[in-house]
Amino acid sequence: MRALALTDCALADVDQHGHLRYVPDGVVYVDGGRIVFAGPRAEAPRPPGTYRAIVLDGRLVTPSLVDCHTHLIYAGNRLGDFLAQRDGHDERFQFGGILETVEATTRASADVLEALARRRLDEMADHGVGAVEVKSGYGLSLDGERRILEIARGLSGYRGVEVVTTFLGAHALPREYAGRPGAYIKLLTDTVMPVLASEGLIDMVDCFIDPQGFSSEVIAPYLARAKELGLPVRAHVDQFGPAQGAELAIDYGARSIDHLEYLSATALARAQGAGTIAVLLPFAYLHKSLPAMPPVEGLRTHRISMAVATDLNPGTSPTASLLLAAYLSITLYGLRPAEAFGGITRRAAESLGLVDRGSLDVGNRADLAIWEVDHPYELVSTVFDRHSDRLSQMVERVDG
Ligand code: NIG
Ligand code: FE
Repeated sequence: MRALALTDCALADVDQHGHLRYVPDGVVYVDGGRIVFAGPRAEAPRPPGTYRAIVLDGRLVTPSLVDCHTHLIYAGNRLGDFLAQRDGHDERFQFGGILETVEATTRASADVLEALARRRLDEMADHGVGAVEVKSGYGLSLDGERRILEIARGLSGYRGVEVVTTFLGAHALPREYAGRPGAYIKLLTDTVMPVLASEGLIDMVDCFIDPQGFSSEVIAPYLARAKELGLPVRAHVDQFGPAQGAELAIDYGARSIDHLEYLSATALARAQGAGTIAVLLPFAYLHKSLPAMPPVEGLRTHRISMAVATDLNPGTSPTASLLLAAYLSITLYGLRPAEAFGGITRRAAESLGLVDRGSLDVGNRADLAIWEVDHPYELVSTVFDRHSDRLSQMVERVDG
């Protein structure tokens, strides 16, 4: 990419403390695909003559968004679960939970799974997402998990979206292991996780610690194995009930703990200073009508950073809209607009270890989203279908 000067634009991101940085009249200089200056026009150095100017007519530039928790790759739907929960039980639909999706995904060809995932990624890319975390967890066998992670790897770069892969073998107990969760976890720790890690398919490891998932006792060896293999961990915890999952995950240095509807006071205290990020998934909370909410005020008091993600999946969070998730984090959970905006940019990137994304800091990738809004809070306080242009696409168009 040639050196660029973006002019006549507003800029917005959050700083490392989570404070909004909003520059109504800014410029951005880009060289070698990196940000070399982003700030007020009045403070900008003169760009050397070799920069090509792109005039943005007052549009808003933000870092591209980061969706740090998705189950992007699956087939089928979970209408049965939804209708049964809404008292509309219908015999024509199964009531199958995660295993229903495992079966539908296993039956689908790799081509079909990939096509479905691309459609979901299209929607994300159109709405400003530049990086997405993709979990396995609908395979639950060596071959099944490998197939999902291979598809995820193959999708990286599609529509300019970077994919980070997460191994979620400990998502549900396959039927053949009913009553023997320890034996299934042993299969994962002895074989599935190390093999897929050696194949370069795993960036991170996740698990589901919950009364409806695995107990923390059963999961401990799984997280220990991830640590031995040098893989960062994150965990679904305290979604449907308390299960001391957050405490365990924090002990293993988790990059993130996700859901947190039933997060305990002990876990809150333990997370303080641990660097673990709280990932909030308000669409899943809404879709499942959960009776408890994450302790947002407690997270603030303990200075635990909050990210916000879609949790895109057919069972608990059928949406690809990160902006909707951000909106719901404000309207349902009481996040402040700057927390919601930071939650889908800087904090989400941090939770994935993507050190050069999520803000307009000098040196970061110039993966920018360009919006037709007057103020960044419009992105998180409305639910209009907001299309963004990505800098790379804009440059391609100009280059013709
Ligand atoms: O993040 N809680 C476990 N996993 C998913 C649900 C996946 C599913 O229901 O298919 C979640 O909510
Ligand atoms: Fe999830």
